[in-house]
Amino acid sequence: MSAAADPIAESLLAFWADAGVDGMLLDEPVDRIAAGRIAPPQPAARKAPVAAPAASPARPAQPDVSAAVAQAEALAAGADSLEALAAAIAGFDGCPLKFEGGATQAVVWRGDPAAPLMVIGEGPGQDEDRQGQPFVGRAGQLLDKMLAAAGLTGRVMITNTVFWRPPGNRTPTPAEQAVCAPFVERAIALVKPKMLLLVGGASAKAMLKKDEGILSMRGRWHEWRSADGAIELPALPTLHPAFLLRQPAAKKRAWVDLMTLTERLDRPDRPE
Ligand code: URA
Repeated sequence: MSAAADPIAESLLAFWADAGVDGMLLDEPVDRIAAGRIAPPQPAARKAPVAAPAASPARPAQPDVSAAVAQAEALAAGADSLEALAAAIAGFDGCPLKFEGGATQAVVWRGDPAAPLMVIGEGPGQDEDRQGQPFVGRAGQLLDKMLAAAGLTGRVMITNTVFWRPPGNRTPTPAEQAVCAPFVERAIALVKPKMLLLVGGASAKAMLKKDEGILSMRGRWHEWRSADGAIELPALPTLHPAFLLRQPAAKKRAWVDLMTLTERLDRPDRPE
């Protein structure tokens, strides 16, 4: 029998993942060999002991999450332009994703630096890691088509909740998102958008600090607040374009969300 993936099972798993079912992941990586849950491979014959490989010199000792967040906050606060912020992110070693083997570079943002709309996805994938720009793979191309159809081309800044590709394109953990959050917030403060479009469950949950599935959050306005409370913006969660590629029937709901968004974005500002 062929070992090809079952498309129905794959699609169902993807559906649950996009709906926010991520219970199989822990906040921190677990070394199951060290924990004794997986027997290490046994050598076929007795061999002379081999010295354990040295830890990767590129990976600095990991500070705990709150120390990494504090460091990210200080770096972000010191960046007074998007260019300075991008350089601070590239030099930041506090996000474990940088060293997990999935990422070759930091992927920050693309678009209009004074956009009225900020689109925030989950994290870079393989195409994004290769090209150094967010949402440039198949999902990104669909996102661009949808934004174009909604009249939003050239009016958006696009970024992610994390700046390094998670290995195997897994969902970033809340801890990984937390250490990148000060940079995302600083990018929002510098761009000064009127509103946020939160793409997919991992983005909506992290940005809104809510533990709801995307299917219940999408299409409704929420309030996003910066950690210091200085910025409040309307935020609309919607379905991730990667989900729409797997479930084309859901495109109608994403389109309704974009119409909800453009109606508010294009509403004339009333004088106070
Ligand atoms: N998916 C995301 O969430 N972000 C990207 O940049 C690409 C794919």
